[in-house]
Amino acid sequence: MRAMVYRGPYKIRVEEKDVPAIEHPNDAIVRVTLAAICGSDLHLYHGMMPDTRVGHTFGHEFIGVVDEVGSAVENLQVGDRVMVPFNVFCGRCYFCSRGLYSNCHNVNPNATAVGGIYGYSHTCGGYDGGQAEFVRVPFADVGPTKIPEWMDDEDAVLCTDALATGYFGAQLGDITQGDTVVVLGAGPVGLYAAKSSWFMGAGRVIVIDHLEYRLEKAKEFAHAETVNFAEEGDVVLLMKQMTDWLGADVVIDAVGAEADGNLLQHVTSAKLKLQGGSPIALNWAIDGVRKGGTVAVVGAYGPIFSAVKFGDAVNKGLTLRMNQCPVKRQWPRLFEHIRNGHLKPNDIVTHRIPLEDIADGYHMFAAKLDGIIKPLVVVGAA
Ligand SMILES: NC(=O)c1ccc[n+]([C@@H]2O[C@H](COP(=O)([O-])OP(=O)(O)OC[C@H]3O[C@@H](n4cnc5c(N)ncnc54)[C@H](O)[C@@H]3O)[C@@H](O)[C@H]2O)c1
Ligand SMILES: [Zn+2]
Ligand SMILES: [Zn+2]
Repeated sequence: MRAMVYRGPYKIRVEEKDVPAIEHPNDAIVRVTLAAICGSDLHLYHGMMPDTRVGHTFGHEFIGVVDEVGSAVENLQVGDRVMVPFNVFCGRCYFCSRGLYSNCHNVNPNATAVGGIYGYSHTCGGYDGGQAEFVRVPFADVGPTKIPEWMDDEDAVLCTDALATGYFGAQLGDITQGDTVVVLGAGPVGLYAAKSSWFMGAGRVIVIDHLEYRLEKAKEFAHAETVNFAEEGDVVLLMKQMTDWLGADVVIDAVGAEADGNLLQHVTSAKLKLQGGSPIALNWAIDGVRKGGTVAVVGAYGPIFSAVKFGDAVNKGLTLRMNQCPVKRQWPRLFEHIRNGHLKPNDIVTHRIPLEDIADGYHMFAAKLDGIIKPLVVVGAA
C-alpha cells in the first residue's frame, strides 16, 4: 500500500508499505478514504515528540471502509463506512469505564500518563496511523462508529479529532450563561472551541492569534471578537482592558507548547531545548483569566515542562482543566449540532491534498502558507 512515512524531522515521504494484517481477534483493517493533518502532527514533524521512529506512519484523523474484521468483532462488517476516534482505547478499564478514553490503561505499554493514539509515535503506543491506504484498528467494537447516512465524509473526518477537541475545550471551560470566553489560538481546534463556546452559553467570545487570515475566519465562522497579539504590546493587559479589568471568566488554550509570542521563551525552548516547549500561551491564560476563573487546556504539552506560572494559578484560585480529548464521548452532542445545522465542520477546510502530495501539505501547514487552516488528505475512493 501507499503510506506516509516519517524519515526524521521535516522529512515526510510517501512509500510502499505492507498492508497491515489482523493481529488480534478484536482488530479490523480499515481502507482509508479521507484523512487529515492535525496541528498535533506538526509536533511530530518538528521532531518535538520523543520516540518518533523512522518508518512510522502518522495520521490520527481518518475515516474509511471496513476491509477485514477479526473473528471476535461483532459490531462491524466488511463494507461499513466508519469514523475512527483518534484514541485507541479498550472501553473496559477503570478509566474507560469513567469516560476517560484518552487515558485508557490497556493500550500503551510505553507510558502511564497518556493512552494510545493512532500515528503518534511510540510514546503514544506505536500504532501506525491513517495517512495511508490501510490502517489496523484495534478494539474494533469499541472506537469506530458507522458514519450516519446523513453525514458528509468531510464532516465525519473532522469529528475524529479537531472538532471533538475544540468542543471538549469549551466543555472543560465550565462555561456558564453570559461568560466571557477567551480562546488562544485560531487554528482548527481554537476555531471549533470558539464556536462551541456559544453552544454552552457564552456571552462573549474573543479569539487571539497572530495570523490575520485565521482571525478573519474566527469572525466569520465563530462570530468572535478578535485580537492580533502581534499588534499588541501586552496581550494580558488588553485582555484585562476588554473585561472591565477583571479578566476573562474562561480562557481556553488551543495553542500548546509550540507557541509564538515571546522571543526569549522561544529561544530557550524550541532552540536551546532548556524547556520542554514554550509555556507562553498557558501563562497568558493564567494571567488573563479572572480570579476564581477556569483555564481549559487542549493545546498539547510534552511531559517535561517548566516556567509555568503555577504560583499565580494557586493564588488566583483558578481551576485548571485539561486532557487529550476523549473523542467518542463528544459525538452524540456533536452529531446533534451538525444534523440540526448549528455547525458545519468543513467550513474551515481550506486544502484537500492527495496522499501522494502529503509532504507539501505538511510543509504548507507547518509554515502556515497559502491561507491554510485545515488540510484534508484524500486517500482513496469512498
Ligand atoms: N488535547 C487534544 O486532544 C488535542 C487534539 C488536537 C489538537 N491538540 C493540540 O491543540 C493545538 C492546536 O491544534 P490546531 O490543529 O488548531 O493547530 P494549529 O497549529 O493549526 O493552530 C495553532 C494556532 O495557535 C496560534 N498561536 C501560536 N502562538 C500563539 C499564542 N502565543 N497565542 C495565541 N495563538 C497562538 C498559531 O498562529 C496557530 O494559528 C496543538 O497544540 C495540538 O497539538 C490537542
Ligand atoms: Zn490531533
Ligand atoms: Zn481502557
